[in-house]
Amino acid sequence: MPHRSTGLQWTTITHPETKSSRLRAAGPFTGSVYVLFDSQRPAPRPKLRPSPARLLVVPSPAKTQRTTPKPLLLTNIGQLLTLRSNQPGLRRGRALSELSILADAAVLCHGGKVVSVGRTKDALRDPWLKKNRKNITEIDCAGQVALPGFVDSHTHPAFMQPRLVDFEKRVSGATYEEIAEAGGGIRSSLEAVRKASKAALADRVRAALREMAELGTTTVEAKSGYGLTLESEIKSLEAIREAAASWPGTVVSTLLGAHVVPKEFQGCSPKYVEIVCKQMVPLAARRRLAQFVDVFVERGAFSSDEAEKIFEAAREHGLGVRAHVCQLSETALWPLLRFQPASLDHVDHVADDDIPQLAKRDVVATLVPGANYFLGQGKFPPARRLIDAGVAVALATDFNPGTSPTASMPFVLSLACTQMKMTPAEAVAAATINGAWALRLQERKGSIEPGKDADLAVFETKDYREIAYWFASNRCAFTVLNGTVFRGG
Ligand code: NIG
Ligand code: FE
Repeated sequence: MPHRSTGLQWTTITHPETKSSRLRAAGPFTGSVYVLFDSQRPAPRPKLRPSPARLLVVPSPAKTQRTTPKPLLLTNIGQLLTLRSNQPGLRRGRALSELSILADAAVLCHGGKVVSVGRTKDALRDPWLKKNRKNITEIDCAGQVALPGFVDSHTHPAFMQPRLVDFEKRVSGATYEEIAEAGGGIRSSLEAVRKASKAALADRVRAALREMAELGTTTVEAKSGYGLTLESEIKSLEAIREAAASWPGTVVSTLLGAHVVPKEFQGCSPKYVEIVCKQMVPLAARRRLAQFVDVFVERGAFSSDEAEKIFEAAREHGLGVRAHVCQLSETALWPLLRFQPASLDHVDHVADDDIPQLAKRDVVATLVPGANYFLGQGKFPPARRLIDAGVAVALATDFNPGTSPTASMPFVLSLACTQMKMTPAEAVAAATINGAWALRLQERKGSIEPGKDADLAVFETKDYREIAYWFASNRCAFTVLNGTVFRGG
């Protein structure tokens, strides 16, 4: 088997409230700048460890009205994929297969955190649990599989309409780039977003988040990028925040003002880049609307030089960076790596020489095979070459109207296995703990361990490999998002 046993022992609970608040106060929350739209984090927020950089935390508007859910006990989990590891750092190479599976397991959550993990029989002997059972929400998982909620670390949910004309053109043989050059592609999504009210845009984002939770996702990175004016990019980020406020999971937001050069700036991209650097980035940072800045580095979009300018601006304003690279052609990665991007995404046409450079760094290569599938390219990102060379890979949906209209992480896992030859175990780790690393949330997300956020997905299967096996159907029974149980349907 490609995984080891966890060796986890159920910790006897004396008083979960105390224990939980102690865990929260310990603040497993590190990093530089955090703008998390995280509706279940209890208010008031814990005092966090002093961070070397500026720490921004925006409570969502709805937060103060929320009540902390009752303690939640999941029992009789057939396979609990804890993703616990004794090796620190991003999961690379063989470590990507370590799921640390516990059989016949139980998990106790309280205050939005995991409090205890262990065997069901040990949990049921726990004196505190015995005494307080009637005040605990208990779910018998009847032998099903539970794993950390998926961390979908690359999505574009702030759009209004599907792009059906592009879809038909591609089916008839046109390429993504030909369609974009003829006025389709990203530019054809702009008008509707510019015209839309913030509330209408928030409704679209909310619908996407809901569908994601039904499919096992509990943390989502959400980009703007379909407005491409100062006003509409800020409106998109506000819509993401508004939607996140009514979703129990965690949303990390990203400014993608540099998605393409909009029509009104065609032929004078430096002017547009200046607007991104001098207006969008500062305002998004000042209003704490984004944690990251993304750039689509590609022919027909932005050059590495332009990306460097935008990254400089992001750095100056305390925001993290990530980029779309090597999607349609080779991108020079060196100029970008000096900014320590949290992730470089797509990575289809990566140069051989760049692979060892990626392997040496704490950068995640986020693979989005949904885009390859939907564009019908017949080729997929070189996952095996990357993993075997020691690059830390994550998997994400890239949910967007042009290249990947799917919210389904299970489908992405299936593509990863069938088309990129990742093992089911590697696919699970790439979609959970490495997704968390890609968002710099590895201390809170991506594994099921005491002190981490109570984010789980329970699947109606006996074996975790079935998650990638039953493609195009949803076997997710329910998710737990920051301690709140969510059942779709
Ligand atoms: O990740 N490549 C850039 N952005 C998206 C596509 C956006 C669109 O076509 O609407 C992507 O594939
Ligand atoms: Fe994308």
